[in-house]
Amino acid sequence: MTKLLTVFGATGVQGGSVIRAVLADPLGIEVEAADIDSRPSFAKAVKGTDTLFLVTLPNFVTGAAPGTEIKHGKHVADAAVAAGVQHLVFSSLINVTEASSGRLPLVAHFDRKANIEKYIRSQDIPATFIQPGYYMTNFTNLQLLRKGDDGSYTLAGPTNTNTAKLPLFYPDADMGKYFVAVARNPEELRGKQIRAAADYYTPAQIMAEFQEVTVKTGRYVQLDQDVYRSFIPPPIAQELLENELLCEDPGYFAGGSFAEGHELLAKVGLAPTTWKDFLRASKDTFA
Ligand SMILES: NC(=O)c1ccc[n+]([C@@H]2O[C@H](COP(=O)([O-])OP(=O)(O)OC[C@H]3O[C@@H](n4cnc5c(N)ncnc54)[C@H](OP(=O)(O)O)[C@@H]3O)[C@@H](O)[C@H]2O)c1
Repeated sequence: MTKLLTVFGATGVQGGSVIRAVLADPLGIEVEAADIDSRPSFAKAVKGTDTLFLVTLPNFVTGAAPGTEIKHGKHVADAAVAAGVQHLVFSSLINVTEASSGRLPLVAHFDRKANIEKYIRSQDIPATFIQPGYYMTNFTNLQLLRKGDDGSYTLAGPTNTNTAKLPLFYPDADMGKYFVAVARNPEELRGKQIRAAADYYTPAQIMAEFQEVTVKTGRYVQLDQDVYRSFIPPPIAQELLENELLCEDPGYFAGGSFAEGHELLAKVGLAPTTWKDFLRASKDTFA
């Protein structure tokens, strides 16, 4: 039976990954896109949808007014409920303010997704929440791994090289894998949070594997928090600092494991992209 899948953010990293994975998988799904800023447009697209993938964007990315991300999430959830969508898959994250008992109150792009998740849970719709880990592509696209004049690479951050644990995730390839695995089991995975990442890596491990695979010299430098903030545009400096500190305590996923997500992938013959896999595939970037 053919199913209709609607993907928000289809031209982006996560949504694009979902589409590529679905097209490569014999799920028999048609793909349709919608505009998240236009309620009539997405209400029309959601109509008749069986499975819906939703990723929302932080205000610091869209430049939209505060509250827009939550508004988008709620509007799409409402449209999905109204259309009788059978499975809503939301790209979610944890509530950092709660998980840190108020110590990290400004990681708004996490907290907002947790709030959208809470809203979705309050609605009468089968839903699953995939929580993506720390993008491996942050190191390349955002040039967190910087090449010096001497050809060596430096990764700088505000956390301790041995105690910070980054749950590395390759969204371009792997969001789609998790989606396919989840979309096959709507009943079993109803209400579940699936953490999506290859593993937890300390900065020391990140750089050790970087050196091993690229055969380049690499080092991690722990920056003073004020120095770290000074490299980031002021409106988002504290948010991104707290986002990094989260990886030390209480943890990006508050200590949650990846076992369930990995088992789901294995059931459909898939595996997450490891940091070494990603480095091997990105060798040209570090030539
Ligand atoms: N970086 C990380 O380590 C990390 C980790 C976990 C979660 N995340 C989360 O991942 C999300 C980003 O997902 P992504 O990487 O797939 O983003 P992306 O590649 O930037 O894609 C964004 C998608 O949203 C669409 N879009 C752009 N502006 C929009 C607007 N004003 N309203 C509605 N849609 C708009 C884009 O469409 P057009 O092509 O038409 O512009 C595109 O399809 C963020 O919410 C972030 O918090 C990031």
